[in-house]
This record gives sequence, structure tokens and C-alpha cells, in this order.
Amino acid sequence: MSTSPFPPYFVWGAATAAAQIEGAWNVDGRGPSIWDAFCKLPGAVLDGDTTATACDFYHRWAEDVSLMQEIGLQAYRFSVSWSRVLPEGRGRINPAGLDYYSRLVDALLEADIQPYLTLYHWDLPEALQLQGGWLNRDIADWFTDYSVVMADALGDRVKHWITFNEPQIFIGHGHAQGIHAPGLKLPDEQVMLAAHHVNLAHGRRVQQLRTLVPDAQIGMAVATWIAIPSREEDPACVAAARKATLEPEWYGDPRTYLHQAWWTKPTLKGRYPELLDEKLPGFRDSLPETDLAEIHQPLDFFGFNYYFGRLGEADQNGRWCEDKAAVGSPKSMFDWPLHPRGMYWASRFFFDEYQLPLYVYENGLSSMDWVSLDGKVHDAQRIDFLTRHLREFSLAHQDGVELAGYFHWSLMDNFEWAQGYHERFGLIHVDYQSQKRTLKASAHWYRALIEGNGSCVREH
Ligand code: NOJ
Repeated sequence: MSTSPFPPYFVWGAATAAAQIEGAWNVDGRGPSIWDAFCKLPGAVLDGDTTATACDFYHRWAEDVSLMQEIGLQAYRFSVSWSRVLPEGRGRINPAGLDYYSRLVDALLEADIQPYLTLYHWDLPEALQLQGGWLNRDIADWFTDYSVVMADALGDRVKHWITFNEPQIFIGHGHAQGIHAPGLKLPDEQVMLAAHHVNLAHGRRVQQLRTLVPDAQIGMAVATWIAIPSREEDPACVAAARKATLEPEWYGDPRTYLHQAWWTKPTLKGRYPELLDEKLPGFRDSLPETDLAEIHQPLDFFGFNYYFGRLGEADQNGRWCEDKAAVGSPKSMFDWPLHPRGMYWASRFFFDEYQLPLYVYENGLSSMDWVSLDGKVHDAQRIDFLTRHLREFSLAHQDGVELAGYFHWSLMDNFEWAQGYHERFGLIHVDYQSQKRTLKASAHWYRALIEGNGSCVREH
């Protein structure tokens, strides 16, 4: 039980990903990624938007680190573009790419901002996709080799490592649904095989990073597929929500892969959900016996990205049953429903099950932001969204859940994958024509929030 909203060591940050902000897709020896290729497919990305320039962070990072300082960030989560460092995905190193990340890390540390590095945020080198990508078992070694390069170059300064960001999305959207790169619609056996290779790559990477950077904190960031009990006073409802959050469902369509358990169970419990045997008999037997032992490595935190959940209750048999959304209930620009209470329940369910300190590695709102006549961006809805979500996170802390930190998505407006530049999630507004940055009202609010270690979220 704690009475202060957040623990004293709590870390406040903001997050981005390479493909979404860097631009400079063919500059200084960078090789193409699957997202660069996907953007060229007619109709793949809204309005034909591309990753070519994005926020031009590759050239403007120094100015942007100053803005991070102005917001008072204590930490910055970014991802490395694999093909910037290894243009063919393996083998030849591109010194200019490595040097860029090294300078960025130095600048962050000089600004007293802790770097949190994500190794894989969806932008596989195209050269590796042409060799089968996540379907090729060798990828576990390719990923490990890439990680060694990064650990050798930055391990002396970067102490927080996230292996994978949201495997559910790049596997589910990218390999089952075909709406993200590489745009595949594969049968379940193959999607599950790709998922398994992600798990294997993760496990091998963790083992080896422990040797190379012994004081590193390592984990993963999953998207949150959470069942939120709509009748909290009913223990059957809470039990059904807990089960639906911790054990996957099989929809017989790509939604199946949105569930975090396909990754969290093997990496943290050393086993696949039982449903796998029922739905894909023989799959498990086809895997080398030692794989699960390799995958199951001790981790230092549980990282999750929270945007929304599914409200529901228990049916007569105690099974989870989703509620229909109330007419006119609030939604983001993305059309995502707003469920702040899910932040509390996700924290409770994940902490009870995995017993690791929690990081929210992403949380934020896409809204219709523009620069007003007075030159400011008045994003009051984002401030309200954040207050509500952070309050729920702090209530979980009050109820005994161990919290480590919170990263706002995103530092700045950026390339939102298949939605192109349509969604704006940033604390900083970006004018993509002039590349002018404007701190939104939420950025100023976030600064005050950080200064008070989150105390304002309990004030309303
Ligand atoms: C999660 C992803 O990690 C990030 O890349 C994306 O922009 C946000 N969700 C918003 O959709």
C-alpha cells in the first residue's frame, strides 16, 4: 500500500520508433526496410504516405533532444533501424549508421535523459525479408548478430534494452492480416512459426546481452489485449476478465494474434498456451526440444503499451463476454474507444501473474491537433486522456502493484504506419512541410507532471 501516486524512483519518458520519425531512408548507406518497400505498394498506406522524410529526426535529432530537455523528460525510448546499421541485415556494418546512434546516445546522456533502446520496432531489413524474414528459423541468429553489434557499440552507455515492440502487431497485422509490412496473409501454422521465431530470437538475445552488458535491464514491450471487468463488485466478472487477459482466445481469424499470451507465456513461463495444442495439433512437436528452454529467460520488467481495452462481464458459465459499446461513447481520432480503467486492470493482472515491475512503454491519444491563430496547440483532450490513464496506473500502485515507469506515445507527431500521417499522437506538433516543431499544451502539462512526480493526477 502506498499513498503517493508514484514511487520516488519512477521514470517519466516519451517514446518513438525509427521508421516513424527518422526519414533519411536512403541516406549515408542505409539499406531499405520492409516498411520502405510496403509504402511503395499502391493502396498500402493511407494517401500514399511514406517513411522517406517523416520528422527528419535523422538530421534534426540535436534540436529534438533540446525539446526533450525542455519537456523535462527523464528517459527517451527510441528504436534502432536495423538496416541503417546493417544495410543487408547481416554481415557488413555501416559505420555511419552506428555512429549516428552513438552520437544520439551521447547527446541524451549529456542532457541527463536515460536512453531506452528498442531493438526491433517492425522495420526488418528488406534483404532479410527476401530470405524468408520471420519465417526463416535463421532469423533468430541474424537478430542475435545484429544485437551483438548494438551491444558492442552502445552497451557501455545504454542500460535499458527492449528486444521486441508489440510482436502481436507485426506478426498479426503483417503476417496474418496483410495490412502492415510485409503484407502477408499466411495460414495459422506459418503465422505461429513466425511468432515462435520471434520468441526464439528474444530468448537468445537476452542470454547473450546478459553476458555483454551485465548491468542491463532487459525485457519486451507487448501490446495490451485486456479484458476489463465492467462489474468490478462481481468476483465472477473479475475472474473471467483475468482469464481472458492471461489466456488467449482463438477466433479463427487474425484477431487471434492480438493476444499477448503467445509471447508472454513462452518468454516468462516457459510454455505455450494450452490452446495451441487444441488448435494446431502437432505444432509443438515440430519444434526442437530445447527451444522453450532458450526462450524462457529471466527478465527485469514487464513492458506493455496501453491504448484501449474490451469491457465485458461473465456469462452464466463464468466465461468472458464482451459488452457492446454504449452509443456515443468517447473515441480517439483513430476511432479507438477510451478505457482508462483498463490501465488499472492490465497492471493488476500482469503484475499478479508475472511478478515483475511494470513499465508502460506507450500510452497516448491521437487527436485532431493543429496550430491555432495564437501559435499554440490546445490539445486539452490529450491532457484529460493522460490524467485519467495515469490516475488508474497510480491506483494500481496504491493497491500494491510495483511500477517502474511510464513513456508517453509519442514524443512527436509521426508516421503512423498504414494510417500514414493522418494520426497525431505527439506532445510536439510537427508541420511536415516546414518540419517546424511546436510544443503542444500537453507537453507543458507533462513537464509540470514530471516535476511533481505525477501528483497532479490525483487532484481532480
Ligand atoms: C503502438 C506502436 O508501437 C506504435 O508504433 C504506434 O505508433 C502506436 N501503437 C499507435 O498506434
